[in-house]
Amino acid sequence: MAVRARRSELATPASNDWMFDRSAAAGADMVFLDLEDACAPAEREAARGKAAKALNELDWGTTTRAIRMNGVDTRWAYGDVIEVVTAARENLDVIVVPKVRRARDVWWVDVLLTQLEETLGLEKQIALEVLIEEVEGLQYVDEIAHSSPRLEAIIFGAGDFSASQGARVDTNFDPVVDYPGDLWHYARSRIMVAARAAGIEAIDAPFPHYKDPEAYRVACDRAGAMGYAGKWAIHPSQVEIANTAFAPTPDEIAHAQRVVAAYREAEASGRGATGLDGMLVDAAHLRHSETVARKAALLGL
Ligand code: GLV
Ligand code: MG
Repeated sequence: MAVRARRSELATPASNDWMFDRSAAAGADMVFLDLEDACAPAEREAARGKAAKALNELDWGTTTRAIRMNGVDTRWAYGDVIEVVTAARENLDVIVVPKVRRARDVWWVDVLLTQLEETLGLEKQIALEVLIEEVEGLQYVDEIAHSSPRLEAIIFGAGDFSASQGARVDTNFDPVVDYPGDLWHYARSRIMVAARAAGIEAIDAPFPHYKDPEAYRVACDRAGAMGYAGKWAIHPSQVEIANTAFAPTPDEIAHAQRVVAAYREAEASGRGATGLDGMLVDAAHLRHSETVARKAALLGL
């Protein structure tokens, strides 16, 4: 069951501290200060201190505060975790682990965090999200989804995944326009199923065309239809679109309440199914409606 809202996960390069105020005030459900690919390699070590300062000093409101560390196969990984957790302590809620290939990658971060939390006497456990963006990670996504009790969500990283797959997404071939169907449908579905089977959430990929809000909205709606709980945002202007797209509307909430009431009434009179506005209501519809109600409660709607 979801423990925090994740409709929008806004990425901000941790080296670019002039962007932090705007990100903190963007209204995102989560902001992650990125120590990985949005930072130039030469900036990655200095960016840790900038991230920790922002986590400690800015007013984040209800936004979940996160960092994206570097992958566990890089020389930066241990320093990212140790330096930022030591400096930010309880002001860091989530660490996003990129390029996860196997469950052991997550275990490595989990063990390091456990040692740090004990040493520092932290009262709150830091949660994890992982990026599936390597073909090997997709192949082992089931074991990854069950790799740590800290793990709350799996994000689909379509950019690196496409490279890992060897997909042709160059200037002569627009995968959205020129490919019949959805080039990433298999990966999205696979991640979705693994996440739900482990009782955690799936978050959809970054959308690079930040000046095309309509297309971003379509991408949000498609991911939401599959069961994704939210989407990565690469620009503050995408946050509101994702927040709206992944929240149930007042009509959906009202309908869900009517479905639950109709089902309960049928149940009380010994029936397992009934009708509402000409539509069947049975146990499966009850589950859908309960999901809508849970989402609405999580978002305070
Ligand atoms: C995100 O990190 C991606 O590669 O899409
Ligand atoms: Mg990536």
